[in-house]
Amino acid sequence: MLVSLDFARRPALVLGDGAAAASKARLLTEAGARVTVIADSPAADLRAMAEAGMVRLEWRAATPCDMVGRAVAIVAVEDEDEAQRLVSWARAARVWVNAVDRPALSDFSVPALVRRGPLEVGIASGGAAPALARLVRSRIDAGLPERLGALTGFARRFRAAVTATVPDGRTRRLLWDRVFQGDIGERVLAGDEAGAAERMIALINRPAETAAVAGPGMVHIVGAGPGDPELLTLKAQRLLQAADVVLYDSLVDRRVLDLARRDATRVPVGKRRGAPGVGQDAIHGLMIEAASAGQRVVRLKGGDPLVFGRGGEEAAVLERAGIDVHLVPGITAALGCAASAGIPLTHRDHASAVTLLTGHVQDGDPDVDAAALAGGDRTLVVYMGRSRVTRLTRRLIAAGLPGETPAAVIENGTRPDQQLHVGPLSALPALARRTGHGPSLIVIGDVVRLAPAWRDRTPHAPHSSLSISAART
Ligand SMILES: C[S@@+](CC[C@H](N)C(=O)[O-])C[C@H]1O[C@@H](n2cnc3c(N)ncnc32)[C@H](O)[C@@H]1O
Repeated sequence: MLVSLDFARRPALVLGDGAAAASKARLLTEAGARVTVIADSPAADLRAMAEAGMVRLEWRAATPCDMVGRAVAIVAVEDEDEAQRLVSWARAARVWVNAVDRPALSDFSVPALVRRGPLEVGIASGGAAPALARLVRSRIDAGLPERLGALTGFARRFRAAVTATVPDGRTRRLLWDRVFQGDIGERVLAGDEAGAAERMIALINRPAETAAVAGPGMVHIVGAGPGDPELLTLKAQRLLQAADVVLYDSLVDRRVLDLARRDATRVPVGKRRGAPGVGQDAIHGLMIEAASAGQRVVRLKGGDPLVFGRGGEEAAVLERAGIDVHLVPGITAALGCAASAGIPLTHRDHASAVTLLTGHVQDGDPDVDAAALAGGDRTLVVYMGRSRVTRLTRRLIAAGLPGETPAAVIENGTRPDQQLHVGPLSALPALARRTGHGPSLIVIGDVVRLAPAWRDRTPHAPHSSLSISAART
């Protein structure tokens, strides 16, 4: 867990002579701490910092009494026995201690920091991979505007006035969103603080306009992709971070849901195997109620909301209810699973058409003629096909599709527990039986031949099949 501590004017102790001690002492002084360094033979860096009045330097060996009353102690010594001794003294004095490069001896670790004025981004790896944390830091550093610190300072300047004039928390949050994402924030970032302040004062002084910031609610029906959170669109991520309410299906990966604002209300509305779930009418009711109360609602659906996702139905109901509704696409299972299994859905030499078919038919519905959609230079992708796989296979073969046609079943595609089973069409029911309870997708067509897993099958046994888990795919 990463916490941010206020060290302003608090006494901190650094023990050590060299570069590590100097760098930690500098970090603490930048955080406003009163730093004492105890060192037998301090390096030039430390002496220079003492001469500049940044730290108090004591040229001597440390004693247990030095620990008493410190907010934190940093042990930056080379010798292992000495480090252990100093850490034990700190613990005896109930002082939090960090032993540089010795996570096992430390009570806390110091994150890699990106600083923009008072705004700080900390990256911690729990001491496991400081070099990786530094790499992430350099990427974040490159991506954040230099003047973000000025924007933080600007917000601090107006914070009390905004809190006094806009008592409602949600309206206030919307106002700040408008400031940071609108022209006021842009002006601060561009260096025009005076122009930004003028507009900010006008915004604060117009309570009616400020109240209107809350505006009417709206619903975004958002595709969450097949599982891997990195496959989420930037728009989906931004909307999740701004949503007041998130209604999500059972297919939505937990890691995607974790991207929602921490204080957003999360409502599971998915149907789980065997469990009834929340009815469709109730889902519509929840969305209409929340949006009518002025809330920003994200309706999060696995894959793409418009591919076997009932997103179209929900949008129509919301529109009829007069709710502002927007659709945000996601990566559908066919695309995500094909990529992570190494199956090109189309290919100049193997397939010039691809069909997405649902295996789930409602009672009384006629079955689609799947055979007309598969074979030749066509790829057939079947969603929700596991329970009807035997019937599907029989029909395809009866319609003349060769039993050797390559087929794949991908379970939990793009997730760490992905399973891939490949084999001839005749073995498809057996492949499907190898899956567990995760969502599974069936791909039938010549393109499956191009998957590395197909090539890895026993070369002289054309009817053989192969199952591999995520580590291989
Ligand atoms: C109700 S449909 C929803 C499809 C979703 N809207 C989409 O665009 O991917 C659910 C079916 O999608 C397929 N599916 C969704 N995510 C999957 C995944 N990660 N791996 C394999 N199949 C998946 C399965 O066939 C599952 O039964």
